[in-house]
Amino acid sequence: MPMCGIVGYVGQKQALEIIVAGLRRLEYRGYDSAGVAVISEGELEVRKKAGKLANLESLLGTDPLPASTTGIGHTRWATHGGPTDSNAHPHLSEDRSVAVIHNGIIENFSELRDELTASGVLLASETDTEVVAHLLAQAIPVANGDLPEAMRRVCRRLEGAFTLVAIDRAQPDLVVAARRNSPLVVGVGQGENFLASDVAAFVDHTREALELGQDQVVAMTAHEILVTDFDGAPVEVKPFHVDWDASAAEKGGYELFMLKEIAEQPKAVADSLRGRMNKESRIQLDEMHMDEGLLRSINKVVVIACGTAANAGMVAKYAIEHWTRLPVEVELASEFRYRDPIVGPDSLVIAISQSGETMDTLMALRHAKAQGARTLAICNTVGSTIPRESDAVLYTYAGPEIAVASTKAFLTQIIAAYLVGLYLAQVRGTMFEDEIRAVFTELHGMPEKVDRVLDTTEPVRALARDLSAATSVLFLGRHVGYPVALEGALKLKELAYMHAEGFAAGELKHGPIALIEEGVPVIVVVPSPKGRAILHDKIVSNIQEVRARGAVVIAIAEEGDETIAKHADHVIRIPAVPTLMQPLVATVPLQVFACEMATARGLDVDQPRNLAKSVTVE
Ligand code: AGP
Repeated sequence: MPMCGIVGYVGQKQALEIIVAGLRRLEYRGYDSAGVAVISEGELEVRKKAGKLANLESLLGTDPLPASTTGIGHTRWATHGGPTDSNAHPHLSEDRSVAVIHNGIIENFSELRDELTASGVLLASETDTEVVAHLLAQAIPVANGDLPEAMRRVCRRLEGAFTLVAIDRAQPDLVVAARRNSPLVVGVGQGENFLASDVAAFVDHTREALELGQDQVVAMTAHEILVTDFDGAPVEVKPFHVDWDASAAEKGGYELFMLKEIAEQPKAVADSLRGRMNKESRIQLDEMHMDEGLLRSINKVVVIACGTAANAGMVAKYAIEHWTRLPVEVELASEFRYRDPIVGPDSLVIAISQSGETMDTLMALRHAKAQGARTLAICNTVGSTIPRESDAVLYTYAGPEIAVASTKAFLTQIIAAYLVGLYLAQVRGTMFEDEIRAVFTELHGMPEKVDRVLDTTEPVRALARDLSAATSVLFLGRHVGYPVALEGALKLKELAYMHAEGFAAGELKHGPIALIEEGVPVIVVVPSPKGRAILHDKIVSNIQEVRARGAVVIAIAEEGDETIAKHADHVIRIPAVPTLMQPLVATVPLQVFACEMATARGLDVDQPRNLAKSVTVE
């Protein structure tokens, strides 16, 4: 999956110690199992264990690997199949001739798995990776023993996102890898070479690296690195010098995990959509294992979540109600179970949680289950408690989120909740197929739109620095812009330790406008004028009301909305997108604003005071 740790080595030194040290450098990425394979005296030796590297190291203590100068290692962030010893990588072919490690999702793995089982192969795990090990072992003889050619043959059959690294006991001086839509870099040493999912794994040994491109295969020995495309044609890859130190490398060269995770949002959104619409353009969420009849029988949806996850639920409410005509209640988990809520067998309760361990949400989930409700988790951490205790789960594929302030998880929670909404509409027949396809197409275009916002963040950073002395910032929004305003305020509170509050813009005149005085910064999430013109007109009035009282108005407004420029002190532009898509682009400047404000104030952005990444107490 998006953030597994990969290390490969071939050279003069002991492979094991280099690989384990490399995997340690990748620990920050989060993982739930680890393993290593080496070639020794014509045999492949594998040691792998669920849990942290310490578990693997104690296994290696009691059951050591033989000496070897060729090996591969992996830390797994579970996707297909929970974090168990058998699901840990490396995976072996049946005859133990080939070992494979993998980062990504192989979308067509179930048909490949069926083909293998039909041919009598016994699979030892639930993973998509193991399928590749068997296919490679079958392809090597066809390729006259040529592992790179066998890898190319197999890769041509794979769909999805993958970095694969393989070794063959018959070729002990060779490590072969392939990549599509998933990172892979080569570390070029003297008489030794390295492969890794990011440079942090080998930067202690060499700073000379090669960045592999899309659909490429690399054959690596101690003295040679050959790169081809999937058809075997040699390709030039550009070398680069790593000028990061190891700790910066862990953040992919970013100063902060939060900056890295903000930058990962286009990929996180793309990964969370991947494979969830089939060739017939129907939403396919088979992994949810929720009976369609049941989904037709429910008469309301209740979202339970905390913090940012609750804000994501609020965004999703507008979409799911619009698409399914089902009432959607969004409940703060900490309030839910103490207010004697009305849920039962006709309710679909959706627990949204990045960590899957938030105690408030877990306790609310248990309460909902006790009332007989059907439960679905939207979660970013495979195998965590909340999905395990839910009837079904839809995973977001944001990859581990290290910074306490949630960013990419928020966008992918919206994506997952939208997919559930579209799936409900599909199953219940409240949207035509072409309408569902149209929305999915809009979603598919969002990674590129988020990318565009990321390219234009300097103005909002400058504003944050200019306003770093502010004592309070208000956020306004309407419709789906309202939960975005709440999320922007939450980010600013938890990062800059500054008072910030989000309001439904229509609420201003019912009290909050008394807060406005000279110089108060007000950030306004402006609805698209093309979406609901009435909403745009009303928010322009709200801007006029606060400016008339001295507010400094910063409008987050779409490109082409010239009206707003006449009324706001500053305009931060975002791409024009349909109404329900706007939270995916409008949130990003607010994340950057809060991050820059905290940085300007010299605060610890990744680990803000008083906060934990996962609140496992009630
Ligand atoms: C968001 O920036 C905060 N870190 C916090 O509100 C978080 O969203 C909340 O604690 C819920 O966490 P979860 O998604 O892991 O359940």
